[in-house]
Amino acid sequence: MKYLIINGSPRKKNTWNMVKQAQSNLEGEFEEIQLMKEKIPMCNGCCNCIFESETKCPHFDKMNPIVEKIKDCDALIIASPVYAMNVTGLLKNFFDHTAYFYHRPAFFDKKALILVSTAGAGEKKVANYIDETLRHWGFNRIYKATVKCGGKEELETKDIDKASRKFSDDVKSKKLHSPKIGDLIFYNVWRALAASNDPIKADKLYWESSGLINHEFSPIVKLNFIKKIFAKVMYYILKRVMK
Ligand SMILES: Cc1cc2nc3c(=O)[nH]c(=O)nc-3n(C[C@H](O)[C@H](O)[C@H](O)COP(=O)(O)O)c2cc1C
Repeated sequence: MKYLIINGSPRKKNTWNMVKQAQSNLEGEFEEIQLMKEKIPMCNGCCNCIFESETKCPHFDKMNPIVEKIKDCDALIIASPVYAMNVTGLLKNFFDHTAYFYHRPAFFDKKALILVSTAGAGEKKVANYIDETLRHWGFNRIYKATVKCGGKEELETKDIDKASRKFSDDVKSKKLHSPKIGDLIFYNVWRALAASNDPIKADKLYWESSGLINHEFSPIVKLNFIKKIFAKVMYYILKRVMK
């Protein structure tokens, strides 16, 4: 199994210790990206990635190798400390550069493990924010572990072990899980927008060229009958509303 680790902490301390603990429960190849070393400039808000193409991002040369590594891995480990009740600026800047994946979800065969450390607060909220982002990107299943490190000498490993073992079994199984209703809704909203009378050019191109425009959800993931009907009806209604 190929695991890609993205560390949103500027240093290798509490959050990195969580990564190392999780790694002790996983078997395979690991590649790490330390966002601090990547020196990705701040997103300048040009919106080229959303409206034109991600290749038109002024920081494409910095971003593309990382995105290609996400495409290439079997599973992603993404880690951040809590900074001012959110992810670090490093990770947020990375997410800002990948905002187009909200419109053009792509990672339907991927699973992720989210690791968040904090002194004392905000860890669940931050883990949920990362989870939400990856779900919009199309991730199939996401596991989370959070740890309060404030005032403690030793890392509490129980939750990390539990989540990383489940993650490991799931990644090895290669099973793709049926999407949640919320994920079906996100998918079909963007699909209907791409099929509307006035679509975003880059979105339309992506949804059509990938063939996803013709499917209630990514065809590599099985939908049961009820979810299929739900998605069909929702897509029909959304398309009418958007016209
Ligand atoms: C700039 C900054 C902001 C922080 N904000 C919070 C916060 O809002 N809540 C909190 O409980 N801890 C906060 N912390 C503490 C870190 O989340 C905590 O020490 C974390 O484990 C550090 O991880 P690291 O060792 O990987 O850097 C903050 C730390 C820094 C440096």
